[in-house]
Amino acid sequence: MKRAEKQPHDSARFDLPPDEVRRIGYLAADAIASHRESLTSRPVFGKVGTAAGLFSGPAPEEGVPFEETLAFVREHILPFPMGNSHPRFYGFINATADPVGVAADGLAAAMNPNCWGGDHAAVHVEKQVIGWLASAVGFPLEAEGILVSGGSMANFTALAAARRAQTPGNVREDGLGGPDRPRLTVYASDQVHACVDKAVDLLGIGTAQLRKLPADEKFRIRLEDLESVVARDRAAGFTPAIVIGNAGTVNTGAVDPLDALADFCARERLWFHVDGAYGAMAVLSPRLAPLFSGMARADSIAADPHKWLYVPYEAGATLVREPGRLGNTFRRFPEYLASDAESPFPGPAWFAERGVELSRGFKALKVWMGWKTHGRRGYAASIENDVRLARFLSDAVDGRPEFERLADTVLSIVNFRYRPAGRSLPDADLDAVNRRIVNRLVGDGSFFLAPTVLKGRTALRVCIVNFRTREKDLLALLDEAARIGEEISSASAG
Ligand SMILES: Cc1ncc(COP(=O)(O)O)c(C=O)c1O
Repeated sequence: MKRAEKQPHDSARFDLPPDEVRRIGYLAADAIASHRESLTSRPVFGKVGTAAGLFSGPAPEEGVPFEETLAFVREHILPFPMGNSHPRFYGFINATADPVGVAADGLAAAMNPNCWGGDHAAVHVEKQVIGWLASAVGFPLEAEGILVSGGSMANFTALAAARRAQTPGNVREDGLGGPDRPRLTVYASDQVHACVDKAVDLLGIGTAQLRKLPADEKFRIRLEDLESVVARDRAAGFTPAIVIGNAGTVNTGAVDPLDALADFCARERLWFHVDGAYGAMAVLSPRLAPLFSGMARADSIAADPHKWLYVPYEAGATLVREPGRLGNTFRRFPEYLASDAESPFPGPAWFAERGVELSRGFKALKVWMGWKTHGRRGYAASIENDVRLARFLSDAVDGRPEFERLADTVLSIVNFRYRPAGRSLPDADLDAVNRRIVNRLVGDGSFFLAPTVLKGRTALRVCIVNFRTREKDLLALLDEAARIGEEISSASAG
């Protein structure tokens, strides 16, 4: 007797018919649009606070209909955002999401390709995006690169290539430990992003060999210090290897003298890496490009589409001038990935050979679709507007006696502090007042900014990578910060 074949599982649950895929897609698209629409009627920062218990249950044993899950998302998740698509979000360097990128992410997930390599469209799209980015920063046609998760990974990947290139022998096999191995040293200003510390640590160079040179009054590296520290290290038996120039520091947006750094690195045979995670994309604006003169002479550059191309998280990029450097650093193909000469699979690039990850998503589509939709001109105009708004705020700060600016405004970051007019408070008290101003602004949901410390003083730091911000949003920030500052400082004086 023949037994009916038993379905091992309910495949229809996953293998939805096209109309059902369409239906849930429309529901999700509607939730996306409503989310954006409602952002300004909610606190900027969607603090979860006492509702945290909603996210503490065990993994569900049984499923529920999609509508039920989406209803939870609409009620309990979407209304509690980080806030970076709100016009009054000025924290960190967290950009507002371009809706084109949001849609692209859905399409990329629909294809769900693994972008480690192969002759399928996603790999060609990524290769093209890398070409666009490389040409934007002034790299030669043959330059190579890879999309990674963000600035931290972009810097790490580039510094791994630098370590490989600058270490005698084969550092991949020999490592850096042991009595006969070189002690590599890395140089940057003290404004360099903390991800460089992580990279230097993970690459076995050691953070003690990362020379962070005190920045000048404009928060840029001092060439004369760099020269003398490199000479001192050589004399002491170290192997100076890498200089990192900032193309837009995270604290103030300062740009190091990149041309002079390129000259120095050429003279001293050092790898010149530029951290342009924040600033590099501003070269798309002919008006801003001169700020980055010398960046094109770097050996490697980190650039972040998820910062100033407004691409939704995540998308960073490592760009390397000389092709083959990344492959020399990361290539390690297991047998099961190898293809023979007749295989139809190989495509234009093996991205798995250019970085840490093997399985990789289709991050390139959101960058590609954004660029196709807005063009270089669209990005340039938006970046220029962010910079214009930062200058507007800077001027407004300068025009009000209760505020004091703490750094030059170079790109789209403004640093200032509240200082009650007519009263002289010690720096430590001013630091405390300014921190409390930030906490009040973020806590009451009216704005989001994060403080930083510049030369020992607490600054209110406003970063605009936000095409939704208007002048009135910035003036409102000053009014509110002044009101809170006055309230706090007069309460403590009384
Ligand atoms: C200059 C700079 N480098 C690196 C990073 C790290 O980038 P990510 O947060 O994307 O890892 C940042 C982040 O703000 C940055 O501003």
